[in-house]
Amino acid sequence: MSGKVGIIGAGQVGAAGAYLLSQTPGVREIVLVDLDHARARSEASDIAHAAAFGGAAQISAGTYADLAGAAVVVVTAGTSLKPGQTRLDLLAANIHVVSSVLERVLAVAPETVLLFATNPVDVMPAVAVRRFGVPPGRAIGTGCALDSARFRDRLARQLGVAPGSVHANVLGEHGDSEVMHWSGAQIAGMPLTRFAELHGHPLPPEARDAIAQEVRTSAYRIKEGKGVSNFGIGGCIARLARAIVNDEHVVFSVSTFMEELLGVQDTCVSLPHVLGARGASRPFLPPLDELEAAALRHSASVLHDAIRAGLEATAEVGRDER
Ligand SMILES: NC(=O)c1ccc[n+]([C@@H]2O[C@H](COP(=O)([O-])OP(=O)(O)OC[C@H]3O[C@@H](n4cnc5c(N)ncnc54)[C@H](O)[C@@H]3O)[C@@H](O)[C@H]2O)c1
Repeated sequence: MSGKVGIIGAGQVGAAGAYLLSQTPGVREIVLVDLDHARARSEASDIAHAAAFGGAAQISAGTYADLAGAAVVVVTAGTSLKPGQTRLDLLAANIHVVSSVLERVLAVAPETVLLFATNPVDVMPAVAVRRFGVPPGRAIGTGCALDSARFRDRLARQLGVAPGSVHANVLGEHGDSEVMHWSGAQIAGMPLTRFAELHGHPLPPEARDAIAQEVRTSAYRIKEGKGVSNFGIGGCIARLARAIVNDEHVVFSVSTFMEELLGVQDTCVSLPHVLGARGASRPFLPPLDELEAAALRHSASVLHDAIRAGLEATAEVGRDER
């Protein structure tokens, strides 16, 4: 394992990810690539100065050629959500950016694991697989890994336990149709709702709905106050890249392209996967109750439609540029 991580896009998300990665065990080198090379150079210098207080990673601004041998390339290039926009609204703009990035990355690092944060984050792995022939396990969307961390954090605060003691995932689209997997959530080896009752913090359906809504709308609320959402996704990028660089075989709810899920063809939604040096394992569909299965099927079909629109946009871009 090279311990080398490339980051395309040195904006708010890329810089937060790079900063946290510079403090991540196993990461030895970080290369920032951005259309705006001056921005990448300044972020690299600033982060290097923080790393000089004790972090070990070497960080620089570079070109695509400098990505050769990278274990992971994180894609954060593109525009971000504006007030009133959904992630799917970003499709047309960002599909073009990501396609041009993929062409350049794959020319120098064909074996790398691609980790997408650019929104709509669940469409980008499908573009890598369908248009560029990348194996599904090597094109990973951060997907609901961040939403799952938010879910566990929210439950932990509600129930008075540490987030690490809550085993709970968010499945489906990283976005409005995402599905809280309540029936699979566990604390202390028992169903979460049973633990909540025994621990004196019962979770009736209204409380569960309020928590789900809070998790689902986190990014919108963060952006209302500060205009961007960068540290949560930065932490998510650093954690997932660490799992890949160190071949950890840990399980995260991330998105990879699937030819079929619950009767929906060609989709890409978050499910638990094992992450290691070769990327993501196949997705694991956990047992779901009836409502969760219906909600996940709906989420998968939302993504099926977005992927189809995205692939058509990519094809049109290709034709326009010929
Ligand atoms: N997955 C998530 O959970 C999550 C969370 C927050 C943001 N995001 C997404 O991350 C993306 C980046 O957000 P941000 O806040 O960092 O935006 P930003 O505007 O701060 O940074 C984007 C950067 O991409 C660069 N860029 C644009 N086109 C490029 C290209 N072709 N090649 C190289 N670099 C290019 C720009 O120069 C800029 O520096 C957005 O799509 C946003 O929606 C995802």
